[in-house]
Amino acid sequence: MTSGYYITTPIYYVNASPHLGHAYTTIVADVLARFHRQRNHKTFFLTGTDEHGDKIVEAAGKGGMNPKDYADLISGQFRALWPELNISNDDFIRTTDSRHVKTVQLILKKVYDSGDIYFGSYEGHYCIGCERFYTEKELVGGLCPDHQMPPEYRKENNYFFRMSRYQNWLIDHIERNPDFIRPERYRNEALAFLKEPLEDLCISRPKSRLAWGIPLPFDENYVTYVWFDALINYVSGLDYPEGEKFESFWPDAQHLIAKDILKPHGIYWPTMLAAAGIPPYRHLNVHGYWNIDQSKMSKTVGNIVKPLDLKDRYGLEPFRYFLLKDMVFGLDASFNEEALIQRINSDLANDLGNLVSRITTMAARFCGNRIPEPRELFDHDHRLIEKAGDTRKDVDRYFGELAFHKALAAIWDFISLTNKYVVETEPWNLAKDKLKNGRLSTVIYNLLESLRIIAILIWPVLPQTSGLILKQLGESPVEADFEKVIRWGGLNPGTPVQAAPALFPRIEKQKETRPVKETENKREKVEAGPELKPEITYDDFARLDIRAAQVIEAEAVPDSRKLIRLKIDLGFEQRTIVAGIGGHYLPAALVGTKIIVLANLKPQELMGVRSQGMLLATDGINGLTLLTCDKEPILGGRIK
Ligand code: ME8
Ligand code: MG
Repeated sequence: MTSGYYITTPIYYVNASPHLGHAYTTIVADVLARFHRQRNHKTFFLTGTDEHGDKIVEAAGKGGMNPKDYADLISGQFRALWPELNISNDDFIRTTDSRHVKTVQLILKKVYDSGDIYFGSYEGHYCIGCERFYTEKELVGGLCPDHQMPPEYRKENNYFFRMSRYQNWLIDHIERNPDFIRPERYRNEALAFLKEPLEDLCISRPKSRLAWGIPLPFDENYVTYVWFDALINYVSGLDYPEGEKFESFWPDAQHLIAKDILKPHGIYWPTMLAAAGIPPYRHLNVHGYWNIDQSKMSKTVGNIVKPLDLKDRYGLEPFRYFLLKDMVFGLDASFNEEALIQRINSDLANDLGNLVSRITTMAARFCGNRIPEPRELFDHDHRLIEKAGDTRKDVDRYFGELAFHKALAAIWDFISLTNKYVVETEPWNLAKDKLKNGRLSTVIYNLLESLRIIAILIWPVLPQTSGLILKQLGESPVEADFEKVIRWGGLNPGTPVQAAPALFPRIEKQKETRPVKETENKREKVEAGPELKPEITYDDFARLDIRAAQVIEAEAVPDSRKLIRLKIDLGFEQRTIVAGIGGHYLPAALVGTKIIVLANLKPQELMGVRSQGMLLATDGINGLTLLTCDKEPILGGRIK
């Protein structure tokens, strides 16, 4: 039996909502899963959320929630996001699932019983963002290189995993399997870690300090340390130690991560597997960062772009295309909305969109809206047919190398050759001469057939677009036998061709306003232009009673995506205001925030809730941002 293809994403921390970085990894995993399913490989695609540990407790506390409710909320946001991005995961695992907890405890017990877990004491620099200790050498200027924050110095009695014992085994495994960690730069990075003596891994936390974790099966006063818990999701998600799914998918396990978590995946995880008597995964596939203005997009830093905003603005498939085309897998890429617009207009609207409408229009005009019968073939035709076959081979090869940008470039090369074929064969001239009817039929058939192959090849990245093109050709969406459908000559002469609206409208750049955001079907204007409102006097200003306040309760107004009901403390009184910031802030995250309000605005009713005042905000780069004070204000203090 051949083994199935198993693709995983990191399980994301639930300390904040998903951003473009998470969307990228998950979309790449989706594209790979679809690619393999399309080629009739048995495929299992797993994603999920990582819910235990210090930083979740901290984030929950900030939102005034207990860790489980908080984890439910944010995990729910990840789970709800994926269908919006057309992610085809087969399962979604949470580290709070009982199936996962059971497997973690089983593996802990097994490794403990075999003598690879011992009790000891440790001190060192701990980054809560990474949930791991750093050696002095790894810190940059005393700061965590990922989160740019000073680590905490911690000393504790804890349980340790004897990772050092597996150092030589791991070096040997990486050397014998050159693509175990890929691309190569990350393999080299892992080998560089392994040049230093490998320290044992602290895998527990005393319950007295952190209760939010999985209890150790051999000491109830301790819970597991996040990584020992989190990494095991990759096997608990296959029901390990139960046999069937694990046996069919583990042999071709492919992990997909960004370079931030190379060490846990490249070093901790294989040694943990070895200690548990589980064979290593097949490949660790590591990509770079999406940066904004040279720095990593990160929820801890706060410079994030929200995937749904981009989907709302530009459409899902253009967004998926851009992510795969504009990042060379393995290297960093800089996110930039101009580049996204440029891609949509040139590659999608101009190249692909125009080709589809041009060919289907000609089929309608010249061939009575039916797929014509092809006749004798000439050089031009053979070149096109050969290119179709070569493109398929290139796509397969580049997918194997994770070079998605090259796979897309190969398809676009075929698109451009097809466009050239139109120019060279001039179907509109053939149509003028009855004697050339046979040639016209062949040309139009070949063009429609090229479209069919293009649609099949773009399917993993652009499944909806692919389906729309195939439907125009009277074909059903790709699912059948790939080897058969990818062969030239699959279209059935006589089948009606359906005209359809343009696949990708061009995006016109907005001149007056910066990009808009969709909220409750209304477009909110970003007001950042130079036009000032008419002058007012100081007395006019003095009529505004603007004060500092603190949010003490916050909840979404039922049936509204945008409105949040806030109970605020003005020092001398508490009152309720309603703010339209729901698309930008989670209610729970607002509790405790110091805000600025216009306190003497005439009360008004919003969706059945009486609002006594108005919260002040401005447009931030990533959506609305609240006005606040840079030092602790006195509640009720007037703005002057
Ligand atoms: O590390 N560019 O979770 P996490 C590209 N829970 N990808 C990015 C990115 C960026 N700027 N920012 C995040 C954790 N990612 C652990 C994982 S796995 C057993 C436990 C993506 O929420 C990328 O895939 O911090 C990165 O590895 C992951 O999100 C980190 O997610
Ligand atoms: Mg992170």
